[in-house]
Amino acid sequence: MDRKHRSAAIRVAVAAPFPEIVRVHEGTAEYADEIEVCAMISSADAVLEQARLLQPDVLLLSDGLGATPSDTLARLGAVAPSTRLVMLVAEAGGDTPVIADAVLRLDASAAEMRAAIVAVTGGQLAQRAAPAAHSRVPTESASQAQAAEPEPGGEEAGAHGHARTVLVFSGKGGVGKSVVATNLATALALRGARVALVDLNLQYGDVGVLLHLESHPITIDAITQQGDAVDAAALEDALATSEHGVRVLLAPSSPESSDLVSAAGLEAILGQLSRTHDVVVVDSPPHLEERVVGVMEVADQILLVSSFGITSVKDAKVTLRLLQSLGIPPDRVALVVNQTRPRLTFSAEEIERTLRFPILSTLPFEPRMEETIESGRPMVVSEPRSGFSRQMALIVDHVGRAQAVSAAPNVRHQAARWRLRFGR
Ligand SMILES: Nc1ncnc2c1ncn2[C@@H]1O[C@H](COP(=O)(O)OP(=O)(O)OP(=O)(O)O)[C@@H](O)[C@H]1O
Ligand SMILES: [Mg+2]
Repeated sequence: MDRKHRSAAIRVAVAAPFPEIVRVHEGTAEYADEIEVCAMISSADAVLEQARLLQPDVLLLSDGLGATPSDTLARLGAVAPSTRLVMLVAEAGGDTPVIADAVLRLDASAAEMRAAIVAVTGGQLAQRAAPAAHSRVPTESASQAQAAEPEPGGEEAGAHGHARTVLVFSGKGGVGKSVVATNLATALALRGARVALVDLNLQYGDVGVLLHLESHPITIDAITQQGDAVDAAALEDALATSEHGVRVLLAPSSPESSDLVSAAGLEAILGQLSRTHDVVVVDSPPHLEERVVGVMEVADQILLVSSFGITSVKDAKVTLRLLQSLGIPPDRVALVVNQTRPRLTFSAEEIERTLRFPILSTLPFEPRMEETIESGRPMVVSEPRSGFSRQMALIVDHVGRAQAVSAAPNVRHQAARWRLRFGR
């Protein structure tokens, strides 16, 4: 990863209708060393939610989008207090200049946009190099310091006494969960976090293949055979280590061994990994079962992955309803849309509208994906400047920002009922 470039870049969310958004994006690409477009928002309804999720340094907002500027600015202050607003307006004048940090005409050149973006963030950039005090997982802006100097290991992980647990889930197979989980874990490790990755696709887990760890002899079923309590030393020995430092607990090598992993045993494993890592990423099978619901219950973040296919979007809708019925608050869920095929069936905006849920990251189709899988080197390492890796960075930032939380009692209660239904 080009850390020099990433740490210096000002993160800009562009909110404008098509085709203006494309023009702005192409213009700012000239200044990629200084400006990183972290989101392209083409729906007025999504502006504030994306600003809340991404906390960009600058929101470049076109009045052609139809969002009322004064209203947006007032609410922007509440959801993303340090985000600066640069307006693109069709007509100079009116009251817009008073409320925005800077105002440009719609036909402003790329150089003018760059100058305005740099000007409004001028005082902020020095502060961005410092890691957030509350977080041991570096955010995008804090990545340089932390990646250059990995944190020393320690027994206690996370400011809240346990690691962040991130479950990557979808109700449908083949949408890219394992690709997302391995790239996320690797990117976090590259930023200096201590990362564990658990392959909970217990029958057909692919993490070992994706990270070239197939030859590692110990898998998760060996650990859970010791009963519901976990032996810390045995767990440590069971973890494989990826080329980039992710500690991986592999799925059993044969499907029938998956039954050896009990929900209680899994809970003990996650608890132990939490104590010795900053982030625990859990990859999952494409269906619901007791053990997956158990992880949903304790996860700090659930990344719900959908492809652009109609059945996948339908399944994502069903899953969102399920998560709601489990009592999991929406801010613990993030939607990732992954384009697994070259042609699109839906637009991202249509998916957002259908699901009534904001998209955190839209991963583009990546023709070199199979090559990177064969090489065992995730996209974030082999193609750090690709569109895929840039969109992955949004997920990494999001996980870095999310607080580790304790499962609320009502979540535990609701989930317990589901677990009973799935219990064998
Ligand atoms: N953005 C992308 N561009 C191109 N190909 C992709 C992309 N994302 C995933 N793929 C391809 O899609 C396939 C499925 O990905 P992956 O194994 O991660 O899905 P999954 O959801 O984990 O599947 P399962 O539910 O079976 O575990 C892989 O062959 C991968 O190469
Ligand atoms: Mg998978």
